[in-house]
Amino acid sequence: MTPDCAKCHTVSGFAESNFTIEDHNQTDFILNGAHMATPCFSCHLKEEKWEFRNIGSSCADCHDDVHEGILDTKFYPQKQCDNCHTINAWPDINFDHNQTNFALGGKHLEQQCNACHLVHGIDSEHQLFSGLTSRCMDCHEDVHQSQFLMDGVTDCSRCHAFDDWEAKLFNHNETDFKLEGEHLRVDCIGCHKPTEKKNISYIKYQIEDHTCAACHL
Ligand code: HEC
Ligand code: HEC
Ligand code: HEC
Ligand code: HEC
Ligand code: HEC
Ligand code: HEC
Ligand code: HEC
Ligand code: HEC
Ligand code: HEC
Repeated sequence: MTPDCAKCHTVSGFAESNFTIEDHNQTDFILNGAHMATPCFSCHLKEEKWEFRNIGSSCADCHDDVHEGILDTKFYPQKQCDNCHTINAWPDINFDHNQTNFALGGKHLEQQCNACHLVHGIDSEHQLFSGLTSRCMDCHEDVHQSQFLMDGVTDCSRCHAFDDWEAKLFNHNETDFKLEGEHLRVDCIGCHKPTEKKNISYIKYQIEDHTCAACHL
């Protein structure tokens, strides 16, 4: 069936049409976000020919999948980019990280995805999703100079949560030296002194000898 040209064109010329965004939103493909500011020709002018039907309507029909091969397809079945992206701008992301093995809490929730998922090589950087390390010590510098290393790993989350570096999860009474009586009044630094190794200063937390005489003459 030949469409009625006058529905969209006037006699002033075919180069213009009065097919508006409102008209567009009557079709199956609603224009929103950045697509509203996208000129008609960006989607409809294919190799100098206007095309309005069968130009594809799922994200990946028009956008390159920049994560091809590095993002498990279970996070975007049928390449549904809008499982993470909105149409406003690519950095605008909605993703429930609890779908992965690493729940985000505290300050982690405030980070851009790429703060963790963009890994830096010698002179290049690339995105990494599966296979990204989840060991705290691989992303955070161990200011304690390996004092708390166990089987080759320092698990920061034994003592620290995700809001800041206070040792909220640490309970002194689970060590071999309970803090009781007069010792409860003593500042940490009274017993845990700054010390130095290879010119790096740090607080010594591990105290091998904790007999009374070691500290009280
Ligand atoms: C549903 C709306 C619609 C209908 C109906 C329609 N057109 Fe179009 N046509 C457009 C749009 C949109 C453009 C792209 C021009 C623009 O808006 O920049 C276009 C472009 C054209 C162009 C190319 C103009 C150029 O400079 O490249 C020609 C020629 C044309 N139409 C002819 C027709 C004829 C002939 C008919 C009737 C058989 C028709 N159109 C029916 C919407 C329509
Ligand atoms: C982001 C891409 C995009 C932009 C920008 C866009 N369109 Fe479309 N348009 C589509 C898609 C996708 C369809 C549906 C194609 C299909 O059904 O296969 C469509 C359908 C149409 C149709 C066919 C409607 C019908 O009844 O079959 C017309 C006419 C049209 N668009 C005109 C326009 C005009 C005029 C503009 C600019 C004001 C525009 N489009 C901007 C993607 C776009
Ligand atoms: C019919 C083709 C088409 C479809 C389908 C389509 N887009 Fe677009 N989109 C475009 C074009 C063309 C542009 C403007 C040029 C560009 O930035 O790539 C654009 C722009 C965008 C932008 C802005 C990019 C920027 O740099 O500002 C985002 C984000 C976007 N699209 C997301 C999506 C998502 C998500 C989907 C699926 C829900 C989708 N698009 C479906 C054609 C399409
Ligand atoms: C599991 C979530 C997820 C899905 C699904 C996803 N992306 Fe992304 N994408 C990201 C993240 C995270 C970034 C980095 C955003 C940032 O911080 O700037 C990104 C960035 C991008 C960028 C910007 C890249 C750059 O180099 O600046 C583009 C373009 C993009 N995605 C396209 C797509 C397309 C197209 C699809 C669908 C085929 C898709 N994405 C699906 C998570 C996703
Ligand atoms: C604080 C760091 C951090 C931030 C911020 C972060 N992630 Fe992750 N993400 C991880 C770690 C670590 C893993 C690996 C979990 C595992 O062991 O499988 C992961 C896993 C994933 C996976 C699953 C990979 C797979 O194949 O199993 C996806 C998808 C993902 N992240 C997307 C995102 C998106 C989208 C954002 C932004 C909303 C984001 N991440 C923000 C650390 C982060
Ligand atoms: C994949 C990298 C990555 C992993 C794994 C990771 N983090 Fe983070 N973390 C970050 C980034 C990026 C930030 C924000 C920048 C910063 O403060 O270092 C952050 C911030 C933090 C902060 C807030 C620091 C501040 O001063 O605001 C704490 C606390 C923290 N992480 C604890 C942990 C703990 C505990 C673990 C292990 C369970 C862990 N992180 C694993 C990347 C990671
Ligand atoms: C056995 C408990 C314990 C473990 C495990 C631990 N910390 Fe701490 N950390 C502390 C204590 C105690 C403090 C002093 C702050 C306080 O008293 O709240 C501290 C303070 C810090 C500070 C702030 C002090 C400064 O010099 O800036 C950072 C940063 C920090 N830890 C990072 C880490 C990282 C990274 C890991 C894992 C690689 C880690 N910690 C593992 C107990 C621990
Ligand atoms: C009266 C002395 C004394 C005071 C005060 C004290 N500690 Fe300790 N602390 C010790 C001794 C002794 C050990 C060694 C216990 C052991 O080997 O199990 C220790 C061990 C630790 C450890 C190492 C735990 C581990 O898993 O290796 C941390 C961390 C620690 N203290 C933090 C603190 C913090 C934080 C404070 C202040 C709130 C504090 N301590 C106050 C004597 C003290
Ligand atoms: C790791 C060092 C350390 C060890 C081990 C330790 N203390 Fe203390 N103790 C201190 C420090 C530091 C203070 C506060 C400064 C001071 O008064 O000497 C203190 C304070 C005290 C006080 C109060 C001070 C006063 O003069 O009244 C008493 C009592 C005390 N300790 C008894 C003991 C006894 C008993 C033991 C053995 C069970 C012991 N301490 C083991 C470091 C230690």
